[in-house]
Amino acid sequence: MTADVEAAALALRRGELVILPTETVYGLAANAADPEAVARIYTAKGRPSFNPLIAHVGDLDAAAAVAVLDARAVRLAKVFWPGPLTLVAPFRSGAGVCDLARAGLDTVAVRAPDHPTAQALLRAFGGAIAAPSANRSGRPSPTTAADATAETGAFARLVLDGGPCRVGLESTVIALLPGGPPRLLRPGGVPREALEAEIGPLSTAGGEAGRSPGRLVLHYAPDAPVRLNAAHREADEAFLAFGPAAPAGPGVFNLSESGDLQEAAANLFGFLRAADRLQPSAIAVAPIPCSGLGEAINDRLLRASGFVG
Ligand code: TXA
Ligand code: MG
Repeated sequence: MTADVEAAALALRRGELVILPTETVYGLAANAADPEAVARIYTAKGRPSFNPLIAHVGDLDAAAAVAVLDARAVRLAKVFWPGPLTLVAPFRSGAGVCDLARAGLDTVAVRAPDHPTAQALLRAFGGAIAAPSANRSGRPSPTTAADATAETGAFARLVLDGGPCRVGLESTVIALLPGGPPRLLRPGGVPREALEAEIGPLSTAGGEAGRSPGRLVLHYAPDAPVRLNAAHREADEAFLAFGPAAPAGPGVFNLSESGDLQEAAANLFGFLRAADRLQPSAIAVAPIPCSGLGEAINDRLLRASGFVG
């Protein structure tokens, strides 16, 4: 089912869905301006329609055509785009992102992905592309074309295979709304420290529910229960290890033997899926440092474990 970019652009124009590689995770993509096509995304994912989608664009100019970007947003886009950063800003009314893609909100999330295939599709298609991660709602995001196909391939006209995702975690989502401080809605591929170096402290106030409609409690979850901060594994558990001191052996997946958080992020969802396939009694996970990309890794692990936050 692998296909080329021109065929994918045509499919989008026809209102069909396409599986799309990005540097973060694979997306299930539709024409952002077409409510019927966007409705198919919600059906395919089993996603509640109050959870808005990210509009993918080629660059800052294309983002400014759909969103009202203030000086802070422009600065972040100039530094981090293309890349794993999503900006939530006021929607420019009349622009090409339909109400359903925004879940009826008067804001829109925009991101320029850093992947040659995604950029080629954006150029060939010519408009904004709505794409959530290509997993079924609540499951780990797919980081290979095969995993994406297994999750939602049945709903896609075709699959663009861009190889394994380099970042492996979803984009960082921050809101830049008039009169308010910048707010971190979801930690992700750009570490908080890097953003704060550009625009100052990010607020996380407002409570989980008010922050981002998509932050369901049980999220990124494999079938097996997930046990965090595990010093060692029980006999019938799979183990996600981290660092050089970890034991090796069957059922052990070391996120990074050298203790590198970037490598751990890239391996996280693939290893959760691989561990799950062993049908263990649980997936035990070693402690992971919280700095840099560790904030996003720990966020995903907490949600995979069903933590109520
Ligand atoms: O890396 C990524 O961001 C991937 C790739 C495919 O680009 N996409 C992705 O999309 O993770 P999704 O739909 O799985 O997550 C988007 C997040 C959700 O938590 C959603 O609630 C939030 O962004 N979001 C989207 N629009 C928003 C808005 N207007 N206000 C607040 N949050 C918004
Ligand atoms: Mg998702």
